Amino acid sequence: MFDTYAQIFAERAASYHRAMRDSPRARDAEFRAVLEPLGEQPRGVLCDLPSGGAYLAEHLPSGLRYIGVDPSEQFVEACPAGLSLIKAEIASVPLAGESVDYVVSLAALHHEPDLPAVFAEIRRLLGRGGRAVLADIAVDTPPAVFLNGFVDRNNPMGHHGQFLDERLQPLLERAGFAVRDDRLVRTPWRFDSFRQAGEFCRQLFWMPALDAAAVAEAMEREIGFDSAGGSPSLKWVLRRIVCDPI
Ligand SMILES: C[S@@+](CC[C@H](N)C(=O)[O-])C[C@H]1O[C@@H](n2cnc3c(N)ncnc32)[C@H](O)[C@@H]1O
Repeated sequence: MFDTYAQIFAERAASYHRAMRDSPRARDAEFRAVLEPLGEQPRGVLCDLPSGGAYLAEHLPSGLRYIGVDPSEQFVEACPAGLSLIKAEIASVPLAGESVDYVVSLAALHHEPDLPAVFAEIRRLLGRGGRAVLADIAVDTPPAVFLNGFVDRNNPMGHHGQFLDERLQPLLERAGFAVRDDRLVRTPWRFDSFRQAGEFCRQLFWMPALDAAAVAEAMEREIGFDSAGGSPSLKWVLRRIVCDPI
């Protein structure tokens, strides 16, 4: 039994990390999608905000130096040795102003209660010529319905995401950004089997009372798979916003 919010959150973070460790290639399309707008040979410092267990780091081209930031102790402890991961709130990052060339925020803003504060912080961190790439679930898409419906009913903490909507661009402009691109991108989650797909989501979204088959069935019903070549690929989709400081 878990007594406190901290213990519950710790268990949830550990489960997320197990999913990423057991299926390390499943979300590769997401990591490629957030790096692609940085250009052919980006150089400098990239801040991953929030980073979870620094899963983006292994995808970075050689010219980029990685700094992860995450508020969760569990993720910071799970970070591979040799990588820089700072434990901090994403609206209050202990790095100097204009000390970063790129900021990536993947799959996280829907948990953030104060987006203006986070966007102001990203603007403060970015130097001249910098770029931010924000990618997260868009409102009313199948992943949004799955997370605030099926996951909400089966995760002991529930799931109440505030998914990206029409308020985002004005907030970014008010924080001092010019939005260069804003679109839905397909980022399929790839698996070797339906069982692996179900187990991945069961762990990633912490639904301990369900078995993998029940989760895979809900994924098929609510999001859908492509199964070309016998390898199931979940039709995951994200909204990706590319913006530059002005
Ligand atoms: C879904 S993870 C994304 C991590 C990483 N960017 C990735 O793509 O795997 C969300 C991150 O937001 C942080 N977070 C902050 N508040 C949270 C909340 N209430 N629920 C879930 N995650 C929260 C967690 O520490 C976690 O690292």
